[in-house]
Amino acid sequence: MKVLILGSNGMLGPYVEKALQDDHHLILTDIQEEYEGNNEYLQLDVADLEGVVSAAEGVDAIVNLSVLRHDRKLAFDVNARGCYNVMKAAVHHGISRVINTGPHFTIAGPGYEDFEFNINSEIPSQSGTGLYAHTKSLGQEICRVFSENHDLHVITLLFYNFKESGDNMLSASDIDPNQFVPFSVTWEDAARAFPLSLEIPDDKLPSKCEIFNIFCDLPHGQFQNEKARRILDWEPTDNLEEYWKIDSL
Ligand SMILES: NC(=O)c1ccc[n+]([C@@H]2O[C@H](COP(=O)([O-])OP(=O)(O)OC[C@H]3O[C@@H](n4cnc5c(N)ncnc54)[C@H](O)[C@@H]3O)[C@@H](O)[C@H]2O)c1
Repeated sequence: MKVLILGSNGMLGPYVEKALQDDHHLILTDIQEEYEGNNEYLQLDVADLEGVVSAAEGVDAIVNLSVLRHDRKLAFDVNARGCYNVMKAAVHHGISRVINTGPHFTIAGPGYEDFEFNINSEIPSQSGTGLYAHTKSLGQEICRVFSENHDLHVITLLFYNFKESGDNMLSASDIDPNQFVPFSVTWEDAARAFPLSLEIPDDKLPSKCEIFNIFCDLPHGQFQNEKARRILDWEPTDNLEEYWKIDSL
C-alpha cells in the first residue's frame, strides 16, 4: 500500500514509520523542513489544501499524525482544518482509508474522565472546551461527516499517555506512580495499531467511522480497550506492570 503520513516528524511519527515501512511504501510529510530517515519525505503544511491534495495523488491511504496544541489559530488550522483537508484529498483521489489520531479527551473529556469508569470509545462525545481537545474533536467530527457522505472509511486512534519500553524504560527508582494515568501504552504498542488499521477489510468494520482507545491492559478499569482488541485484533505486548505494581519492586 502507498501511504501518505502527515505530521510524521513528531514523537509518535518515527514509531509509526518503523511499524509500516517494511510492508508499505511511505510518503512522510511534516511542516518541518528536516527529516532524518530513509523514506520519501516532503515538507507539507496540513493546513494547505492544495498541498495536501497534491501530496495525496496516487496513494492508497492517509495517516494523520499532525497536531498543534496551544496557539488558537494554528490549533484550528492543524487539528480541525487539517482533517478537512485530509478528507477533501481522500475524496478527490478516491482514497478509501484514512487513519486519524487524537487524544482520549476528544471523546472522554472532563464530563467523563473525572468521575466515570469503564469508559469506552462509543460514548457520546464530550471533549470539553480546552483548545487542544476542542479542535481535535472538531477534526474528528469532520472525518465522521465525510465518511457518512463519501465512499471511504476513517479509523480514529485515541491515545492519552505514552511510555518508553525496554532499555529506555525508566528505572523503578525514577518512576513516580502519581504520574501514571490509567490510559497508557508504549510507543511501540501504539504504533502496532497503525498497520492493523490500514489493513483491516472494510467489512470487518462496524461502520465507516470507527474510534478506538489504544492503551495497554491496566487494572484500574477507568477506560476500556476492548473494542481495539476485538475489532482491530490489537494486543498490547507490554502492560507496564513496572508502573502500577511499583510497590512490589
Ligand atoms: N504525545 C502524546 O502524549 C499524545 C497524547 C495523546 C494523543 N496524542 C496524539 O497522537 C498524535 C501524534 O502526536 P505526537 O505526540 O506525535 O505529537 P507531536 O507534537 O510530537 O508531533 C506533531 C507533529 O505535527 C507537526 N505539525 C504541526 N503543525 C503542522 C502543520 N501545520 N502541518 C503539518 N505538520 C504539522 C509537528 O511539526 C510535529 O512533527 C496526535 O494526533 C496527538 O493528538 C499524542
